[in-house]
Amino acid sequence: MTGLFITLEGPEGAGKSTNRDYLAERLRVEGIEVVLTREPGGTPLAERIREVLLAPGEEQMNPDTELLLVFAARAQHLAEVIRPALARGAVVICDRFTDSTYAYQGGGRGLSLERIATLETFVQGDLRPDLTLVFDLPVEVGLARASARGRLDRFELEGQAFFDAVRTAFLTRAKAEPARYYLLDAAQPLVQVQQAIDALLPQLLERARG
Ligand SMILES: Nc1ncnc2c1ncn2[C@@H]1O[C@H](COP(=O)(O)OP(=O)(O)O)[C@@H](O)[C@H]1O
Ligand SMILES: [Mg+2]
Repeated sequence: MTGLFITLEGPEGAGKSTNRDYLAERLRVEGIEVVLTREPGGTPLAERIREVLLAPGEEQMNPDTELLLVFAARAQHLAEVIRPALARGAVVICDRFTDSTYAYQGGGRGLSLERIATLETFVQGDLRPDLTLVFDLPVEVGLARASARGRLDRFELEGQAFFDAVRTAFLTRAKAEPARYYLLDAAQPLVQVQQAIDALLPQLLERARG
């Protein structure tokens, strides 16, 4: 058994968490074991690293520090949660994964993609998501939804240029590898986004049942 590794990507307010729960429920009613998790985080230790990453602070975080913390949390998450779940044949649905590193630390912070790729291989070996849903929407729409949620984290406090670069990075990655990515128009009403997810279900069930 090798399970199925699905990741949800996109900016703040795109609907990743909402649709993560929706997709999980659609698979569970079919009797599939689903493990829901998120990054950065997903284990108690990795969630502590998440707090460090998201908390706005007086000391500016060096971009390399940020990148290494993201991958440190990911190493823990892979070892404790993701790899064991995939090994027993579960479907893992993860809210953000390494595409977010390419988008935020690569696109947003301007770190070299080669350096990110080196760490990706170091931490993940050859493990990559089987399917990545990219929730795409205009930057202003996402930020308005995220602000309505309350206090902004260290990333949400970034400006338009940062999020334009994040969006471009997600779209570039999706275009480069269409077999792995499923692009969703997340500015549509939620029911329409969910219809697009429903369209994927037959294929997902077949793959999940191996
Ligand atoms: N397609 C949509 N249309 C309108 N509002 C949405 C849509 N998808 C999600 N929302 C709302 O936007 C907010 C952010 O959604 P959420 O799932 O938390 O996004 P994310 O996890 O990507 O940051 C929530 O209040 C949610 O109910
Ligand atoms: Mg969320």
